[in-house]
Amino acid sequence: MPLYHTLGKIPSKRHTVFKKEDGTLHYEQLFGTIGFDGMSSLMYHLHRPTMVKEVGESIDVSPKAAVSHNIKSRLLKGFQVKPEDDYLESRKTVLFNNDVHIGLAAPKKSLTDYFYKNADADELLFVHKGTGTLKTMLGEIPFEYGDYILIPRGIIYQIEFDTEDNRLFITESYHPIYTPKRYRNWFGQHLEHSPFCERDFKLPRNLQTHDEKGEFLMKIKKQGRLHQLTYGSHPFDVVGWDGYNYPYVFSIHNFEPITGRVHQPPPVHQTFETSAFVVCSFVPRLYDYHPDSIPAPYNHSNIDSDEVLYYVDGDFMSRNNIDKGYISLHPAGIPHGPHPGTYEASIGKTKTEELAVMVDTFKPLQVTQYALDIDDGKYYQSWME
Ligand SMILES: [Fe+2]
Repeated sequence: MPLYHTLGKIPSKRHTVFKKEDGTLHYEQLFGTIGFDGMSSLMYHLHRPTMVKEVGESIDVSPKAAVSHNIKSRLLKGFQVKPEDDYLESRKTVLFNNDVHIGLAAPKKSLTDYFYKNADADELLFVHKGTGTLKTMLGEIPFEYGDYILIPRGIIYQIEFDTEDNRLFITESYHPIYTPKRYRNWFGQHLEHSPFCERDFKLPRNLQTHDEKGEFLMKIKKQGRLHQLTYGSHPFDVVGWDGYNYPYVFSIHNFEPITGRVHQPPPVHQTFETSAFVVCSFVPRLYDYHPDSIPAPYNHSNIDSDEVLYYVDGDFMSRNNIDKGYISLHPAGIPHGPHPGTYEASIGKTKTEELAVMVDTFKPLQVTQYALDIDDGKYYQSWME
């Protein structure tokens, strides 16, 4: 996140004496990425962030492939994933490869009894239903419908939901998630042609500092396992921090669509990039304005990527029988395109209200049993006339 941010109290010079009221020192911690070359933040703790008291059992949470070599286009009915009380247990990975895990969740309860961090992957939570607050050691961010919550790996967090009616579309990335390089200048600032800019990001606020010793359970996801560590001090004991590495929120409703006289290709919808997949936002927009334009997309061969579309709201112009919360998967190697009738029906239309999130992965995705349980099973034949 190329935007300097600071909260709380920090010393005027890094790596220098910074005393607490009782005269003892704060504990400085560099929280960085990509060795010492990536974005980082410097934070100041009341207690050592290293006070591990106990290491408990670790649980295998790695996704299991039910279909490891998928060639079928699939349609998953996402809202059929059952709500569950616990935030982590509610998360169901449906598609995955070594770069990215894609999942759905309907958590009923807030995560407040323990702390969680993903040590391996950046987490991108898309909020389809629900409001609440992300609480981290670097501050809090409120969230609502349409928000992308980007939580870099290593961030310790809890999540509070205002009600029990929550739906999340979750992307776990084993490569850092950035905004697209082509939207940014040499210094990292978003350029004028970018469909969003720094002003659209919600940054952490309201830094809460807990000066508590005791027993604090932290569940840490690493190498496909959930490790359970007990710490001797409250993980949210930071009095101040500054830097570039922190969670933030971007609303899909702040994505300004790029349109043209004829059909624009998917990259105009790009919102995030990694070295292994892209995330695009399809938002309400005016259609193409050439007098003979066909607004529906042409058939296309996604030779290089598996295409995952998560349908959020509105009528999806190129598909029949699509409902909110559905996921379509179009695997690499076979062409796909508009459903029969939708190509012709789109001619003359002036706008669309569609809202969807797309994840295009550069390597094939494997399909889990959770996905098969909500798979309509016949989508791959739905272009037959
Ligand atoms: Fe496509």
